[in-house]
Amino acid sequence: MTSATTSPGRRFSLPAALLLFCALALRPADLFAGDEKVWLTAGQDAAREMVVSWASAVEIRTALLHYGPTRRPGVAPVRYPLVANAAIKECFGGKLGCVYHAPLKKLKPDTEYAYRIVAEGRALAEATFRTAPTDACEPFSFAVFGDSHSLDGGAAKRYDELLLDVQAHGARVAFNMGDMVNRGDKADEWADFLAQSTVAGRRLPIMPVMGNHDHGPGKGNAQHMSRIFRTPANNEPNLRSHYSVRYGGALFAVLSNHDGDPAEQAAWLDKELTQTDAVWKFVFIHEPFLTCALFGHEPDEEKVGRYFLPLFRKHRVDMVFSGHNHMYELFQPYDGEKFVSDPAKGTIHVTSGGAAKGERIMLLPPSFSCEGRVQSAMRYHFLMITVEGDSLSLEFWDEGGLSGGGLTGPEEHLRLVKPGTPVCHPETVPQTPSP
Ligand SMILES: [Fe+2]
Ligand SMILES: [Fe+2]
Repeated sequence: MTSATTSPGRRFSLPAALLLFCALALRPADLFAGDEKVWLTAGQDAAREMVVSWASAVEIRTALLHYGPTRRPGVAPVRYPLVANAAIKECFGGKLGCVYHAPLKKLKPDTEYAYRIVAEGRALAEATFRTAPTDACEPFSFAVFGDSHSLDGGAAKRYDELLLDVQAHGARVAFNMGDMVNRGDKADEWADFLAQSTVAGRRLPIMPVMGNHDHGPGKGNAQHMSRIFRTPANNEPNLRSHYSVRYGGALFAVLSNHDGDPAEQAAWLDKELTQTDAVWKFVFIHEPFLTCALFGHEPDEEKVGRYFLPLFRKHRVDMVFSGHNHMYELFQPYDGEKFVSDPAKGTIHVTSGGAAKGERIMLLPPSFSCEGRVQSAMRYHFLMITVEGDSLSLEFWDEGGLSGGGLTGPEEHLRLVKPGTPVCHPETVPQTPSP
């Protein structure tokens, strides 16, 4: 006899009864192994696509995402009208367990959604996120920080505090500039990183940039980082380590020095930048092309500038963000060969590797000059960039010296204007008199 009777007239098979027992016995803390690990990754069209990902300590057979637009900000629907399967599962074992991805498509632009993760019929976690606007005039802020180096590595003990500050001060999307962990081939380090990230990452998409500590094991999409983050991978080899995201009036293009051929990435970037009608073009790459560090890394350490710098000039890329050196640097516009005064004729390069505690002295003494550098700091920090139609501002937020512990700021370090692109306030544009 292989069935159990639970009530008159209803019979369950033994496997079904065991599954039901396991589901009732598992609590959310068991599935998350004590730490919730939930994170968001924006899709290529961030106005309509989002991937909700989570990790569980044990393998889940039925993993669903219930979701729907909120009725009021922060208020989840009484009943979630939509259900998505966690269609992708990646199992690692150890502290990370299994990772589930629920890709959501056909979302409404500029809309807050609530979601609930449901495993074996039980709710694990709930949160909200907001999709990107499609209107290039709609203002939004994005945050940049880098080199968190995971909890086990000991560098970024306050990374979760930094993320809460980033979220509290209005970022709609964020970029971790790489070196998220110390050893990318160790799944347990990613478990620590994701547990830290969840405080804000369950509501705020934090887009990954592959650093020299993040890759492995092996190459391509088999690497831990590429299995953990379901990025758009909208390139010919479909590598998840480089991708682009359209967000409002901006195009974000992420490159990787540690996965894929730089010539192929350059061809892909050239195509992306040619096709886009974005007002603002931003590139993210871990190793900086411009940097001056004492006991730090040299500029263009991976020798890929010859592939990318001409493209920044050709397509008038506005800003390039990097990490790698654990500090902050802001440079004058650079046209690939020389510094220029007009931002319309060059690209502004920024180093923001300050989500790592400054464990080494990298900043040059004032007596040393660094050509083209207009700001620098050895501070635990993040940057907030606000785009509003044809204007942009960059703010530096100090998390409290080398070791964090007290947010101060912001200091505005940069303001750019591209007059008339797009025309967001038609009433301020002089009207052509009619004949
Ligand atoms: Fe680093
Ligand atoms: Fe690095």
